[in-house]
Amino acid sequence: MDDLWTIGGGRKPVIALGVSGSIAAYKSAELVGKLTRAGAEVRVLMTANACRLVAPATFSTLSRHPVVDSLWDTGRWQPEHVELAELADLLVIAPATANIIGKLAHGIADDALSTFALSFDGSVIIAPAMNPRMWAHPAVVENCAILRRRGVRIVGPEPGRVACGDLEGAGRMSEPVLIGNAALAAWQLHSAPVPGQPRRRIVVTAGPTREELDPVRFLSNRSSGRMGYALAECAAAAGHQVVLISGSTELPVPAGCTMIPAVTAAEMAVAVKQEFAAADLLIMAAAVADFRPAERAGQKLRKQTGSQAPQLQLAWTEDILASLAADKRSSRTVVGFAAETEDLVANARRKLGNKKLDWLVANQVGCPGVGFDSSDNEVVVFAADGRSTAIPKAGKLEVAAKILELVMNVGNEP
Ligand SMILES: Cc1cc2nc3c(=O)[nH]c(=O)nc-3n(C[C@H](O)[C@H](O)[C@H](O)COP(=O)(O)O)c2cc1C
Repeated sequence: MDDLWTIGGGRKPVIALGVSGSIAAYKSAELVGKLTRAGAEVRVLMTANACRLVAPATFSTLSRHPVVDSLWDTGRWQPEHVELAELADLLVIAPATANIIGKLAHGIADDALSTFALSFDGSVIIAPAMNPRMWAHPAVVENCAILRRRGVRIVGPEPGRVACGDLEGAGRMSEPVLIGNAALAAWQLHSAPVPGQPRRRIVVTAGPTREELDPVRFLSNRSSGRMGYALAECAAAAGHQVVLISGSTELPVPAGCTMIPAVTAAEMAVAVKQEFAAADLLIMAAAVADFRPAERAGQKLRKQTGSQAPQLQLAWTEDILASLAADKRSSRTVVGFAAETEDLVANARRKLGNKKLDWLVANQVGCPGVGFDSSDNEVVVFAADGRSTAIPKAGKLEVAAKILELVMNVGNEP
């Protein structure tokens, strides 16, 4: 599953994509394809060195707009970089060379991309790609620190094979799906990370749990994990430190999030308790099993013709939120989720009180087109003080951004 988040039906983002002279430039063609398929309008700016590695025609064809690769020879009265700076919602530079990172950090404007970057005042995401020795060089490390302090989000690089064959350390550009999702989350959030604002530690659980009957069978549920992953994506885009405790899903782990796998409800309980100790905000979006098979067979249960079918004995699993309620300190915000098939409001308010939650996000499951296994959601967010806010049907990323804005603006400060 490597499609980008769905963008809602309203205005689509205009994303300025800067491509600099790294061998990873060819991967940005895939990024343009993904962003345009997701509904974004992409305007590409290339450095002269990038144009030597990939022909601009590749990007103009995929984006359906001319590539800006020069400050001159444009034949227009208004320089294109100025026009684009007014139009774009977001600047993504992928790949970002050591050179463009240095230029961004020090305000150098000597070509179309770097001049555009100086004239643009919106959110900026960069996806560095370079030899691991270059990435570890103090000059690059310091330049990245300057950019981070200014609120620039740095996605990657990842460890792994780089084109020069140097395998030690990070340097490989993150996959286009991670960069594209980070871009859509930044746009969806409306507000960029505020430089200097404290990063909060946010723990998000996501996905279904699996409770094994035998080595080949399990009880599970229809949760895709998308709601929790969307919350983690937005929290990371807002500049926070995010730990994602995830059941089995096929979703790509959002850029910058630390993922802890938790297959069963018991594993999820252990991981949540461990991470809760240092968390400022816990969002329990996982669909944790309420019960499990009382016994797990060591071998595959065999079919025996003529005999009675096996009877399933169930046992309750631990109620993680109830266990945490006892340990809850006032400095921590806890957000629960409830999937209800009936009496949404009454059930949601009861759960909010019983489990001493600060917020409860309730969604009516069983309606086609929203909730489980869907790319859209429609929820009501209940606050401990009795207020409630309805978030109408939208893509899960948009719903996640709205939930986060609610619970983080009013939530307790760490
Ligand atoms: C084939 C080739 C691949 C390169 N790959 C990278 C790279 O991945 N990262 C990087 O920082 N520089 C890389 N360089 C070096 C940059 O192209 C060089 O530093 C250049 O000045 C960058 O200019 P720009 O940032 O304006 O595109 C590469 C050079 C060549 C010839």
